[in-house]
Amino acid sequence: MTDHTVIFMPSGKRGTFATGTPVLSAARSLGVDLDSVCGGRGICSKCQVQPGEGHFPKLGVTVSADALSCMNAVERRYDEKRGLAPGRRLGCQATVQGDLVVDVPAESQVHRQVVRKAATARPVTLDPATLAFTVVVEEPDMDAPSGDLERLRAALTRDHNLSDLTVPLEVLRGLQTTLRAGDWRVTVAVNLDTKTVAAINPGDRQAPLYGLAIDLGSTTVAAHLCDLSTGDVLASGGIMNPQIRFGEDLMSRVSYAMMNPGGDRDMTAAVRDALGDLARSLAEDAGIAASDVVEAVIVCNPVMHHLLLGVDPVELGQAPFALATSDAVRLAASDLGFGGLAAGAQAYILPCIAGHVGADAAAVALSEAPDTSDDMTLIVDVGTNAELLLGNRQRVLACSSPTGPAFEGAQISAGQRAAPGAIERVEIDPSTKAPRFRVIGCDLWSDDPAFAEATAGTGITGICGSGIIEAVAEMRLAGLVDANGLIGSAEQTGTERCVPEGRTQSYVLWQDDTRRICVTQGDIRAIQLAKSALYAGARLLMDEVGVDSVDRVTLAGAFGAHISPHHAMVLGMIPDAPLEAVGSAGNAAGHGARMALCDRKMRLRIEDLVRRIEKVETAVAPRFQEHFVAANAIPHAVDPFPHLGP
Ligand code: FES
Repeated sequence: MTDHTVIFMPSGKRGTFATGTPVLSAARSLGVDLDSVCGGRGICSKCQVQPGEGHFPKLGVTVSADALSCMNAVERRYDEKRGLAPGRRLGCQATVQGDLVVDVPAESQVHRQVVRKAATARPVTLDPATLAFTVVVEEPDMDAPSGDLERLRAALTRDHNLSDLTVPLEVLRGLQTTLRAGDWRVTVAVNLDTKTVAAINPGDRQAPLYGLAIDLGSTTVAAHLCDLSTGDVLASGGIMNPQIRFGEDLMSRVSYAMMNPGGDRDMTAAVRDALGDLARSLAEDAGIAASDVVEAVIVCNPVMHHLLLGVDPVELGQAPFALATSDAVRLAASDLGFGGLAAGAQAYILPCIAGHVGADAAAVALSEAPDTSDDMTLIVDVGTNAELLLGNRQRVLACSSPTGPAFEGAQISAGQRAAPGAIERVEIDPSTKAPRFRVIGCDLWSDDPAFAEATAGTGITGICGSGIIEAVAEMRLAGLVDANGLIGSAEQTGTERCVPEGRTQSYVLWQDDTRRICVTQGDIRAIQLAKSALYAGARLLMDEVGVDSVDRVTLAGAFGAHISPHHAMVLGMIPDAPLEAVGSAGNAAGHGARMALCDRKMRLRIEDLVRRIEKVETAVAPRFQEHFVAANAIPHAVDPFPHLGP
């Protein structure tokens, strides 16, 4: 098989690949920032590339017209249905046939920039696992020979009643220099949870110890850097999970691991690198040395959990969805590939609830504490796989629901992630059927005379998850869509904004001379499927508990923070409840991580609660399908929604 040179622009990364290698695989193996939402199935078009042609003297290659394969059946089908722009190809389908220069357009690049957020945080209780102990160690004596470590241990036992401590090799390596630098007085950071020495510093060190609370999501990795003595958040940040280039949703990543030998290791390495980058960048933001970070607490879904630990997630992709371990994991941070933290820094990963309900859901349970209230509370953490908790003081149940990525803008014709330029809020006038909207990065509504100028920089690039939810709900309220989710024609709805597209109708949200953003029938179908899965999961838990309604609904997660409760209920995403009892918990998983970081009693509390949470498996519950079908209607075929009014 012949090898060909492939160069990706604008990164300039180049490599040699055999005839027949998919362009997306070549990009992945070079670490090129090329998106893939559907995991290479030719559905999402996020992997679009633009091949160059001709002689590229600076790059030293000549690209012939047949350097890429002809369109295969999958790509042709996509092109016929959705239409690829001239010259564009699907990177997951097109294969290398000759030397290539491939341009990765901006919209196909996974945006990796770190997003800074204000360090606002809810209060936490304090009882940190890692504390500092100052000791004076006896100097060595020729007449009573003993090691420096043995004399340090003796001092810790004598002065602080600390014994049987584990001293990691990395800590031992620095011990002799530190003892002599401190003139035999040192401050030892001891993790009391694992009885491990996390760091040794010369002298009587007064500076605080620091820890990281990390919410490792499949799309975003967010972290807080905290002062362990006060619980204060010194810096917060988020970064895209680089595993996205192996597949957007969890199952795409599991299938990537199944279909590519060593694929799980590639994803493990990618996420560990990202965690290291994030830790260093937060330490820099906070103006501290990363080596003063002595602990990290991590929450994540089960697939992220296994990939972080370097455990093949393949069992999580098939029934009975067995976890390698559901217990909390305590280990050295260095075992997770964290470079640069304190030599003996420890990591704690919260327990997983079940094969599809992870440590992130456990952190939400810790944060929202449904088991301490008399109210029957439904907690929904919306993501590509929604995790649901329902309960009160008597009992708490949990399940997950396969909502898919539609709520994150994927599988939507003009869908995109939440980024500047994305439509995030929509209103439709019920009488004129005209829309007005807002885009991320601009505070003005689209009917404001200053809107065009204010959005000139970002443009109007697509519609994100909260935008599509509001758009569909508003279309229903304005009579553009019936209870079955069918968009009416121009004659039926009385607006020219409803335009035929094949045998169905689309609603034009916005257009200019070159482009238009529509809500298509396919978009509504995708939202119906996602919301039905979410509702069916909630309803299944309600059946198990034996209730027809809930007292409170809490929407967790970054996405939950942006969903309008009213629109969520109009769509029938969540069960009926008083609107004032539907609220957002913000990043509850991140808060739960911080609670466990700053107070070690919280680790015992969540380990105990997870043991008591009753797991409901939606995949094998016969009633799930029934609820799913009934929830297809907007808002619902049978269940009443009295709080929406007549
Ligand atoms: Fe190529 Fe989705 S269409 S990755």
